[in-house]
Amino acid sequence: MKTALVTGSGGLIGSACAELLCREGWRVVGVDNDLRAWLFGPGGSTAAVVRALCEHRGYEHCNLDLRDRAGVAALVRRTRPQFIIHAAAQPSHDKAAEIPFADFDVNAGATLNLLAAARESAPEAPFCFTSSNKVYGDRPNQIALRELDTRWDYADGRDGIAEDCSVDQCLHSLFGASKLAADALCQEYGRYFGMPIGIFRGGCLTGPQHAGVALHGYLNYIVRCAVLGEPYRIHGHRGKQVRDQIHADDAAELFLQFFASPRMGEVYNLGGGRANSISVLETIAALEQRGHTLRYQYSDQPRRGDHICYISDLTKLRAHFPRWQIQRPLPAIFDKIIARYVGAAACRAA
Ligand SMILES: NC(=O)c1ccc[n+]([C@@H]2O[C@H](COP(=O)([O-])OP(=O)(O)OC[C@H]3O[C@@H](n4cnc5c(N)ncnc54)[C@H](O)[C@@H]3O)[C@@H](O)[C@H]2O)c1
Repeated sequence: MKTALVTGSGGLIGSACAELLCREGWRVVGVDNDLRAWLFGPGGSTAAVVRALCEHRGYEHCNLDLRDRAGVAALVRRTRPQFIIHAAAQPSHDKAAEIPFADFDVNAGATLNLLAAARESAPEAPFCFTSSNKVYGDRPNQIALRELDTRWDYADGRDGIAEDCSVDQCLHSLFGASKLAADALCQEYGRYFGMPIGIFRGGCLTGPQHAGVALHGYLNYIVRCAVLGEPYRIHGHRGKQVRDQIHADDAAELFLQFFASPRMGEVYNLGGGRANSISVLETIAALEQRGHTLRYQYSDQPRRGDHICYISDLTKLRAHFPRWQIQRPLPAIFDKIIARYVGAAACRAA
């Protein structure tokens, strides 16, 4: 039986990867210490997801803090994984400014701990790192945009943002800076040490199992607000800011493709692409169509460094992994997230 090490296994991406690998017959060692509850409060806890994962055949949980360098080295030495997916992080752009040391220690420091441990004990294991489109800082905002009725779009008609977008001399947020440090370390362990490491710069990753909170998990959180009747705040850009959404299961399937055809230190933009792109106003309309009216307030103050229009250009991803396709279109993603919160509302009422 092959062994995979999945960090952040209680989180959105980590749990999708752990479930897929268990289904495929792997032994999965999942690492998560529920730091998300400390970061975002009880609503952010991933403990329930971990409890559910522990029911899966092949899953073993490890409640380790990845900032513990010796602990990470010992875990990789003991488990000798054939595949590593590193999805643990402090994931919020806005939160990072409040906790700069914790943000950097988790995002950059823990990634270095894992890379060094992998180099020592599992150097041949394909390694997927979940980076972020925030490594590009606010560079995408320098592209000329045109304003449409319900969204912003690129004035030059481009499909999206490709991997050659500059990461330099722009506003990143501390989160973008710590992810960029980790992203560069992963590239170096790939290129300098010749390790099979893929760096996947995510846009908006989503799914029903996300513990969506105001500070992280856009689509899950806005659906939650609409279904549970909680208030939502739109931050600037007339509500026309655009994100491309990808379901966590589509990302997990991509990582398996990387396992089959790894490359050394290769960078990819990962998102739902233009077909899965949506603005805040369009999200509200889609919810309305499904019978869920969002109560919201508009603030003219955009979040600092927030992208106005971010759509991933998937050309490189599709060229390197021709067998991979996005299987979950936006309407299906909406329906799944809504079903989760309708279920939660029913439990509350009972
Ligand atoms: N969700 C998105 O929209 C999105 C977008 C771009 C990039 N990403 C990246 O994808 C990755 C996964 O994101 P997600 O949405 O699944 O986040 P998540 O918060 O749902 O999951 C991360 C998990 O890591 C765990 N964790 C954090 N620090 C830890 C530590 N020190 N030790 C052990 N466990 C720890 C948390 O408890 C949490 O369960 C992150 O690297 C994130 O930056 C996510």
